[in-house]
Amino acid sequence: MIYQIPWIYTPVRSILAVWHQLTKTEIPELSKGSVMMRDRRRVEETIRAMSRAGAGRLQVISDFDMTLSRFAHNGRRVPTTHNILDNRLLINEECTIKMKELLNTYYPIEIDASRSAEEKLPFMVEWWTKVHELLIEQRIRKDMLAQAVKESRTMLRDGYKVFFDGLHQSRVPLLIFSAGVGDVLEEVIRQNQVFHSNVHVISNYMDFDHTGVLRAFKGQLIHTFNKREGAVTQAAALSQLRGRPNVLLLGDSLGDLTMADGVSDPRHVLTVGFLNDQVEERKESYVNAFDVVLVRDETMDVPNAILRSITSCGDGK
Ligand code: TMP
Ligand code: MG
Repeated sequence: MIYQIPWIYTPVRSILAVWHQLTKTEIPELSKGSVMMRDRRRVEETIRAMSRAGAGRLQVISDFDMTLSRFAHNGRRVPTTHNILDNRLLINEECTIKMKELLNTYYPIEIDASRSAEEKLPFMVEWWTKVHELLIEQRIRKDMLAQAVKESRTMLRDGYKVFFDGLHQSRVPLLIFSAGVGDVLEEVIRQNQVFHSNVHVISNYMDFDHTGVLRAFKGQLIHTFNKREGAVTQAAALSQLRGRPNVLLLGDSLGDLTMADGVSDPRHVLTVGFLNDQVEERKESYVNAFDVVLVRDETMDVPNAILRSITSCGDGK
């Protein structure tokens, strides 16, 4: 670099160094084949602005199933938190069959590129309500959940440890906002040893009776297309997230884009969407909706690179 040449007048060198710092693109991961961006320049400008503000002004809001957890591994689907419950320790064969039937009916609707979120909404309420009723009938035992998670094929995306540990070290709060089952989700991150003190979870939590048997689900039902309501009520109330107007949002559904709607006075919001399934049909809508789209990318490489860039500069409060 020219500003490193010793004979250049010192103030000129300083100005050039600052200029380089402000304009450099230090995220080669954005050139990966899996990355699609509507406007790369805007993405890089947003990352630079977030870098200048630093870790102290940042929060990360992420979906869980198929965002932090993998979509597939060796050609097989990885179970979601609901599907981890498909274990004879917890539910019988009849329940497994019924849950599969519901998945086959409603999942295609959830990802149907030809329907709007409003059209999908009643179907999602129906799906979640039916599944939760089935689970309650099974009288699931709290003390069996950990074993079911251990026996499952659940997997977080490659690079998850760098993601969780890095955020913890930089003291950046991570809000996991999931329409899955909160108790199962917590167990997955606990067993992966990344349930650090900076992690907050909003999800569907099971309500157990005094003998530890499932009797209901707590609070307002969260499904893929009503996350906005949870964001405005529950996320907005979390004091740990206040004073952090810059947001890195990660999701795999268009419904996940509303997860930051509870942030008061947002400054810079960068959205990253994992496009796992029905790629050709949904590519256009994802590129229009998310700032960065990761196509069939089972890794956290890009989010980790963005975070490295943001947390390595700024005030780091
Ligand atoms: P998420 O908000 O953490 O992604 O969780 C929601 C996902 O869970 C959604 O994509 C659909 C999936 N799901 C199942 O796999 N099985 C089920 O029975 C239900 C109700 C949802
Ligand atoms: Mg998801």
